[in-house]
Amino acid sequence: SVDFSTFTKQTGHTSLDYGFVNTASTKSAITYIDGDQGILRYRGYPIEQLAQHSTYLEVAWLLIYGELPTADELAGWDEKIRRHTLLHEDLKHFFSALPHTAHPMSVLSAATAALSTYYEGQSDPHNPEHVELNTIRMLAKLPVIAAYAHKKSIGHAFLYPDNSLSFVDNFLKLNFGNNAEPYEINPVMSRALERLLILHEDHEQNASTSTVRLVGSTGANQFSSISAGINALYGPLHGGANEAVLDMLARIRDSGESVQRFVERVKNKEDGVKLMGFGHRVYKNYDPRAKLVKESADEVLRELGVEDPLLALANELEEIALNDDYFKERRLYPNVDFYTGVIYKAMGFPTRMFTPLFAIGRLPGWLAHWREMQNDPQTKIGRPQQLYTGATERDYPVSR
Ligand code: ACO
Repeated sequence: SVDFSTFTKQTGHTSLDYGFVNTASTKSAITYIDGDQGILRYRGYPIEQLAQHSTYLEVAWLLIYGELPTADELAGWDEKIRRHTLLHEDLKHFFSALPHTAHPMSVLSAATAALSTYYEGQSDPHNPEHVELNTIRMLAKLPVIAAYAHKKSIGHAFLYPDNSLSFVDNFLKLNFGNNAEPYEINPVMSRALERLLILHEDHEQNASTSTVRLVGSTGANQFSSISAGINALYGPLHGGANEAVLDMLARIRDSGESVQRFVERVKNKEDGVKLMGFGHRVYKNYDPRAKLVKESADEVLRELGVEDPLLALANELEEIALNDDYFKERRLYPNVDFYTGVIYKAMGFPTRMFTPLFAIGRLPGWLAHWREMQNDPQTKIGRPQQLYTGATERDYPVSR
């Protein structure tokens, strides 16, 4: 095998590559993407098959350990994750110190970083038992934290996790249940959310995963690395796009502006306005996840009995953009986030919870990449070069 790091050092060249458009930062065996063909596979399995047949936790195991689990392995892992859902009671007080207006993504990243304070002495990146335990802790506790961020924002009491429920049903209950009455699981909602989470589980070296790897490369523990990844995901050009799409659709509806006029403003780059949920660094023909989400959107809204004019608006926007030369020439197509918001909204999630939902979805991928990086003997601290463009040497003016 080629030692790429030695090779780079020997050539003595530095390449300037804004946005790492052409630069690989690592080798990875987790996820395969062919952006021209619209192919996405986790550990070799096509995303379409996993979304149809698998579950969030099964795919999480696949990403992290490389193979599908046996029935016993999956049952044992599911059981362990259920047993780790409780948060330390003191951590619950952490939420009261934050304003109810706090964005749930800020709460999620802060609480994830705070989690590590409860596991001092148990977070050594080089101790396989610690790594295993903290993988399970994060898969179990981050959904609870996200749900508490939601409850806090609407002034509702937190619920204890219900460990008799599956991962997804527990999450739905934590978000939408209350302490006064039993919570009835809606199977349509449950399956739709499971599917959306699976579609988000990994996407190779995207901005947040690269952040997790970069932070992890310094020897930082899993909690610190994942917390950094959550912050990277928060941005509107990355995970924050799902929230931005709904805001954009609502603004178009409320302004009374025609969709065509909005598209013209995007094309003229007026005030830097973009068609959120369109375009992707890697997919230049179509995003296979977007295709699956779009299929779900119609179906889920119909089955939940929700009529949302924003879905019609999204369809109109897509139709106009796909037939417009500006978007065709730049190969801009709907990405995974274009239709997810419409589904999350139909389920009852407020807009600000959309990106935390993405974070819960992406968590297994972050964990898998963090672990792959730790186990790769070629890993070294991430430290890009720069091309210096500042002043040449000059003397400090002593007589100033
Ligand atoms: N609306 C309008 N124009 C766009 C859009 C868009 N959504 N995306 C790209 N363009 C234009 C750019 O202005 C640029 O035009 P130019 O050549 O006239 O200057 C051209 O298309 C190329 O775009 P880049 O920004 O160079 O493409 P890049 O690969 O760097 O960016 C990105 C990809 C960030 C996803 C971009 O398409 C974007 O901002 N999309 C909107 C935000 C979004 O939906 N993000 C979610 C991405 S998916 C995810 O993270 C899960």
